[in-house]
Amino acid sequence: MDRTLSLTRADTFSYINPWIRYFLFLFSFLFWVFSLLIVAVGIYAKVQKATDTVRDTFLIDPAIILIVVGVVMFFITFCGCIGALRENIRLLKTFSFSLMLVFLTQLGIALLGFFYSDQTRDTMGKFVKKAIVHYRDDLDLQNLMDYIQKEFKCCGWNDYNDWSWNLYFNCTQENPSSERCTVPYSCCIPVQGEAVVNTMCGFGVQSQTYLEATKSIYPMGCVDRAVLWIESHLLLVGALALGLALPQIAGIVLSQILISQIQDEISSVL
Ligand SMILES: *[C@@H]1O[C@H](CO)[C@@H](O)[C@H](O)[C@H]1NC(C)=O
Repeated sequence: MDRTLSLTRADTFSYINPWIRYFLFLFSFLFWVFSLLIVAVGIYAKVQKATDTVRDTFLIDPAIILIVVGVVMFFITFCGCIGALRENIRLLKTFSFSLMLVFLTQLGIALLGFFYSDQTRDTMGKFVKKAIVHYRDDLDLQNLMDYIQKEFKCCGWNDYNDWSWNLYFNCTQENPSSERCTVPYSCCIPVQGEAVVNTMCGFGVQSQTYLEATKSIYPMGCVDRAVLWIESHLLLVGALALGLALPQIAGIVLSQILISQIQDEISSVL
């Protein structure tokens, strides 16, 4: 009686916690599927794009960044997925190590961005300047700038006069463009209950003083607006950072636990 009891116990007992194992499997699997989606979106964006102004603006094509991130994520999550399913220590170690590397890289970038905030600001300013210069050449840049200006209720990088960087909106007397001294419609203050949207509201605004401009547009530069936004949404920014870091930390911890459990199991059998 005692013997059969201990036998069944030996048969069913395992150092490997099935919950941790299947959780890690499912968790990696979800992100594995997600990585395929990212790659698909990146390839779609790459194929769709006819002009290269976006790539020239951002040094590297954002579509390429999506594809690279997706492919890296694909291989890492694949290791976690199969490693957990097959209880393969080598794959789990690869998964854990790669995740640690990704995590530390992100942490490094975040810390650099924080401690060199002036340089970060200048670099972003250069990108926005290029986006303003190429505003009319590329629909994606146009949509991006319009989105930023509408969301943050701002105009230009430093202020609304930055639109002179663009050939069409340049405010010099000699500019023959019909949009001389204008700012895009996305700078405009929406008028409540207006029957017809006044897309002309930005016309000639650059020749007005800041105070005059406040009547029709949001004249504040987007950089100041962005700083204000971050300061008033610190909790959200922190939550987003945590949302990015937590799955990675969870993956590292769970795979480490599983690795040690598999090693215990192996040494108990030997
Ligand atoms: C506007 O155009 C003039 C003449 O082409 C140029 O000298 C000036 O630098 C431009 N303004 C800005 C802000 O780039």
